[in-house]
Amino acid sequence: MARLISFLAILPALVSAAAINTTCVTESSCRCLPSDPCWPSKSEWTAFNKTVGGRLIATVPIGSVCHDSAFGSYNAQKCDALKSVWDYPATHIASSSDPMAPFFANVSCDPFTAPSARCIVGTLVQYSVNASSSSDYLATIKFAQQNNIRLVIRNTGHDYYGKSSGTGGLALWTHFLKDISLVNYKQSYYTGKALKVGAGVQNSEALAFAHKNGLIVVTGDGGSVGYAGGYSQGGGHGPVASKFGMAADQVLEWEVITSTGQHLVATPSQNTDLYWALSGGGGGTYAAVLSMTVRAFADMPSSAANLTITNQGISDDAFYAAVQTFLTTLPSIVDTGATVVYLLAYGLFLVQPINAPGVSKAQLQTLLNPTLSYLQKQNIPYGKSSALALVSAYFHIDQFSTFLDSFNAYNPPPNVTEYNIGGRLIPRTLLESQSSATSLVNAYRFINEAGAVISGVNVNVSNGTKVPNAVNPVWRTSITSNVIGVPYDPLNFQNNIYAQNNVTNVLIPKLEALSPVQGAYLNEANMHQPNFQSVFYGNNYQTLKSIKNKYDPTSTFYGLTAVGSDDWTVDSVTGRLCPVS
Ligand SMILES: Cc1cc2nc3c(=O)[nH]c(=O)nc-3n(C[C@H](O)[C@H](O)[C@H](O)COP(=O)(O)OP(=O)(O)OC[C@H]3O[C@@H](n4cnc5c(N)ncnc54)[C@H](O)[C@@H]3O)c2cc1C
Ligand SMILES: *[C@@H]1O[C@H](CO)[C@@H](O)[C@H](O)[C@H]1NC(C)=O
Ligand SMILES: *[C@@H]1O[C@H](CO)[C@@H](O)[C@H](O)[C@H]1NC(C)=O
Ligand SMILES: *[C@@H]1O[C@H](CO)[C@@H](O)[C@H](O)[C@H]1NC(C)=O
Ligand SMILES: *[C@@H]1O[C@H](CO)[C@@H](O)[C@H](O)[C@H]1NC(C)=O
Ligand SMILES: *[C@@H]1O[C@H](CO)[C@@H](O)[C@H](O)[C@H]1NC(C)=O
Ligand SMILES: *[C@@H]1O[C@H](CO)[C@@H](O)[C@H](O)[C@H]1NC(C)=O
Ligand SMILES: *[C@@H]1O[C@H](CO)[C@@H](O)[C@H](O)[C@H]1NC(C)=O
Ligand SMILES: *[C@@H]1O[C@H](CO)[C@@H](O)[C@H](O)[C@H]1NC(C)=O
Repeated sequence: MARLISFLAILPALVSAAAINTTCVTESSCRCLPSDPCWPSKSEWTAFNKTVGGRLIATVPIGSVCHDSAFGSYNAQKCDALKSVWDYPATHIASSSDPMAPFFANVSCDPFTAPSARCIVGTLVQYSVNASSSSDYLATIKFAQQNNIRLVIRNTGHDYYGKSSGTGGLALWTHFLKDISLVNYKQSYYTGKALKVGAGVQNSEALAFAHKNGLIVVTGDGGSVGYAGGYSQGGGHGPVASKFGMAADQVLEWEVITSTGQHLVATPSQNTDLYWALSGGGGGTYAAVLSMTVRAFADMPSSAANLTITNQGISDDAFYAAVQTFLTTLPSIVDTGATVVYLLAYGLFLVQPINAPGVSKAQLQTLLNPTLSYLQKQNIPYGKSSALALVSAYFHIDQFSTFLDSFNAYNPPPNVTEYNIGGRLIPRTLLESQSSATSLVNAYRFINEAGAVISGVNVNVSNGTKVPNAVNPVWRTSITSNVIGVPYDPLNFQNNIYAQNNVTNVLIPKLEALSPVQGAYLNEANMHQPNFQSVFYGNNYQTLKSIKNKYDPTSTFYGLTAVGSDDWTVDSVTGRLCPVS
């Protein structure tokens, strides 16, 4: 209890809960756009800027340096510099408005189009508040409500469905809430080391801080992702998930501001419905998170490996047979607490990384030997270097004294995903017999031959959590989260629409057809997923929606595919967010 009191003690003199004016917020009205009479005047924005201490930012699209527009003229040097770093998440994270998923910029200010091509704010948020405190949260929520503006919570901008962006939006930008502290946690549901992180802390920052304190926390392979944002709120997989459970399974406390202006702490013993929903039920819809407190574990020696198989010098049949051999060993590998990530493209199977916390190099080698001896038996030569001629497979394995060392050596930081994606959770049973594995590999081959790449994150998170949460229960019986992607085309937008239709109607159904239970990871799947309510949230959807309605009765928070989003629709021409009539 002492800790809760200290949270309250640090609250600044706040706008009280009752002061939030909901007079003009009704669930039956469309959100205002800048072209509407209801949009605030310049002086109202200026006055609002004062209430947030000058932290209001008017959007200047980062790609505007590549165009002649109202924002200035084309600057070859700046534009080339931007293009050279466009693939890196950090480029987009630094912006208060840029969505990492290119589709949601609607080809405006795209650095790869001609200087004369359109560059307007368009589908990006109009303004952002660079939040530094709970009072910035309260003031931003209040201003959006009073003026009937679409409120967006933006952290890093990684979201694949544009949930941290939106036409006519005002963003609550959480990126600079970077506090991290070590906590000796003591409650009935957990006693031990914990980390408390602000809303803007990224996975790599949390992992590095834990490491310095001799600890490990459950974070993602994607180090740039927002730890307390969409990642942990949406479930969160990563290199230690098989060992400890998903990121959402580790949460002890969520400190939030609700849309009714309440400052709450949700734990397994207080505000338990909100705790349950925020832990896996998806980001950006129940409340705005200020901080998160999570379990931390003692660091341990860890091994890691990578394996590459190509079709160089072998037939496609031999290639996919080798892939299948490896896939059927995955249950034995993940059951040791290892997490395996792979990329499967036409002619390339890159298994990287295999992270095995607490597993010795010798043990990991034993688990990989069935695949390596299969390669030998089939005369598929493997070596350590791609410089060796006629080698079609490469393999590396090492042991490290700490988890972070193994992570850094074997996890090249992922780039921005320039793909039109879809996703599926694959039941573990499919890899437990050769015949079902053959069907799965045939589906993968079909998808590769249609020009799509496949990534797979492989885990055993069946142990789940000590405390119930809203992680889609399908995760607990799944082994793989597959994401398939058709490359994004920056020059012909219509191609992306075709690709998305293909993913939705042709490619993902090949995986669906094999699964008795339908599920997908809500953070990494298809923005047009039919029946997203059950596919993303399992049997939790109705309960989640009632919790959403309880804490956000004005539906101030919205995100495509988020719980409650089925009551809203976005007009494809104007981008206006309106209630479903
Ligand atoms: C390159 C890349 C790597 C990835 N790697 C992994 C990985 O290893 N493991 C994994 O599980 N997933 C991974 N993801 C998916 C990632 O977890 C999701 O995209 C997630 O939603 C990102 O959360 P964010 O807060 O960083 O992003 P944002 O786009 O800023 O936000 C995502 C959602 O969370 C909401 N949100 C953000 N902050 C808050 C807050 N403080 N309070 C309430 N709502 C909030 C937003 O409104 C939005 O709905 C990756 C994605 C990419 C693009
Ligand atoms: C609430 O907003 C309405 C409409 O903008 C306004 O008329 C009213 O005065 C406001 N009330 C308070 C208490 O701020
Ligand atoms: C908000 O105020 C700050 C400080 O005065 C200023 O730098 C900033 O440009 C203002 N923002 C907007 C959108 O006017
Ligand atoms: C946002 O605020 C932080 C301090 O909280 C400051 O360091 C940073 O420069 C600001 N960023 C922008 C773009 O205003
Ligand atoms: C699940 O928990 C049991 C008991 O704590 C443990 O022995 C086992 O290794 C765990 N499984 C995984 C995959 O971590
Ligand atoms: C596999 O890991 C080794 C050691 O870290 C690294 O040198 C190599 O580049 C990795 N292989 C691939 C294909 O990335
Ligand atoms: C990321 O992009 C850069 C530059 O385009 C490239 O060199 C690097 O290999 C990419 N990294 C990964 C992990 O794909
Ligand atoms: C769509 O899928 C088919 C396979 O059914 C494939 O041949 C085609 O190239 C795909 N098109 C796009 C744009 O992805
Ligand atoms: C997206 O861009 C097209 C022009 O290419 C435009 O017609 C459409 O209105 C835009 N959509 C939104 C939501 O702004």
